[in-house]
Parts: sequence; structure tokens; C-alpha cells
Amino acid sequence: MTDRKKMTLPMLFQKVAQGVPITWLTGYDYPTAFLEDQAGVDMILVGDSLGMTMLGFDSTLPVTMDDMIRHAAAVRRGAPNAWVVGDMPYMSYQPSVETAIRNAGRFMAEAGCDCVKLEGGAEVADRVAGIARAGIPVIGHLGLTPQSATALGGFRLQGKDAARAKKIVDDAAALADAGAFAVLLELVPDRLCQLITERSNGTIILSLGSGPHAHGQLLIYHDAFALYPKFKPRMAKVFADAGAVIAEGLAAYVDEVTQRTFPAPANWFGMPDDAYEELIRMLEDAPAR
Ligand code: KIV
Repeated sequence: MTDRKKMTLPMLFQKVAQGVPITWLTGYDYPTAFLEDQAGVDMILVGDSLGMTMLGFDSTLPVTMDDMIRHAAAVRRGAPNAWVVGDMPYMSYQPSVETAIRNAGRFMAEAGCDCVKLEGGAEVADRVAGIARAGIPVIGHLGLTPQSATALGGFRLQGKDAARAKKIVDDAAALADAGAFAVLLELVPDRLCQLITERSNGTIILSLGSGPHAHGQLLIYHDAFALYPKFKPRMAKVFADAGAVIAEGLAAYVDEVTQRTFPAPANWFGMPDDAYEELIRMLEDAPAR
């Protein structure tokens, strides 16, 4: 087991000041969080993408706060030292500032998260401000925001033309002014991400599919390890084909059980002769049922 210090907000800012990119991955369960923490991943996002990657829905919209709390608490148990981000699911912050603060509080109190993330720009600045005022660190999320994928025309590059790019620049500033300590830019052009990073003035800018110029990178765990069967986005790199390794193992399992080569003696437990013989005597004396 590696010995690492608990990641803190000052440590994240220190990485930025030193020009060392922040590493961020999604994680949704205890064993994955354990591996990510041991690998030294700085931040773990318990994303509402779990609706797709873990629960098999076609979008993130059906995910509830209770789903998120369950998974976030498991991640916290597996990753005591990473900076754990609770992703606010659909309708957990949109209705009102109070709803947003209460649900952000649940991530902190019930799941032990270090901060929360929510989607949207200037239109959610009051939610961000309320959460930040409640003492909860907040990350904003711009560009491709999956909860509004329908309104954005699907899962596609955002901010391609000057007017839309300007809106994203303005939204990043609005989130920073409202108190977001970081802003995630998902699937925007690299030059737009670079520009926002250069203008960020104390706000940490993180990239998912938005190029190399941000202060850190995020990837969806299932994309990075080929574990999502439905599609592989271009922005993701497969760092290890865990899906293929598991598929191979599953085929071997089915084969060995079918061929009776599993289990082997090393996989079971025997019973002492005297206990077994006594059991047989007891059963002989007992009426068959
Ligand atoms: O839910 C999630 O994993 C996210 C990422 C797509 C940024 O919000």
C-alpha cells in the first residue's frame, strides 16, 4: 500500500503554481477508488455518468441524489486520500438555491466528499455562490454539459464559433466570480481552453477532451480502461484494455467450470474424517426428509 497524504485544496493550487498537471478520473465504487487512490490520482469524480457506465441508462438524467450518495460514500471508503468530487445530478440544484445548498451538503455530510460539481454557466452562478457561501468548495462545468445534451444538440464539440466561444469565456468568469474554485471544460476546442486557462486568474481550469493547456486532465474511467461497451469517444485514450482482459477471464471461467477443472483442491475446504463419520452416523439415525 502506498503512503500518500490526504489531498487538500491548497495542495491542488500548489500543483497549479508549480505547473504540474492535476490528474482526475471518474470513479464510482470502492475497489476502483482504492486502485485510483493507490495510483496517486489527485481527484476522483463520482460523476452522474454512473447512470450510463454503472447503471446502463442511456443518459445521466435518471440518476438520483440517493444513487449519488451511495456511490460517493463507497468511493470515499476506497480512496481516503484523493480529493473526492460529488457530481450534482439532474434536478438536485436546478430548482432553487436552497435545493442546491441542501444537496451539496448531503454530499459532504453523508458521503464525505471534498467538494461538489455542477453543470452550467451564468444561469447557475447563484447556486454556485450559495454553495460556496455555505463553505462547500464548488467546481463549475461548461462546454458539453451532459444534463443538457438534448438542448446542446447531442454529445458534440461546443464553442466552435466565436459567439458560442465568447459565451463560454463569459460563463467561466461568472462561475469564478460566484466562488467556483475550479471550472471543468468538457469538449471545447483546445485554443478556447487555452485562452480561458490563461485568463483564469486563480481559478483552476480542468479539461475533458479540451486539449493539453488546462491545469489538469479528467477522463472517464470506463473510457480509459475500455469498460463501456456502447461507444469509445475520440477524446479518450485507452490506457489499458481491461474490458478485453475481463472478457478473456470470463471465457476461461465458463470453460473451467464446464470442464470441471475449477474448483481445484486449493479452492475448497475439507472436513476431518472423524467429524464426517460422525455426521454420517447422525444422518443414518435420523429419518430421511
Ligand atoms: O458525470 C460525469 O462523469 C461528468 C463528466 C462527463 C465530466 O460530469
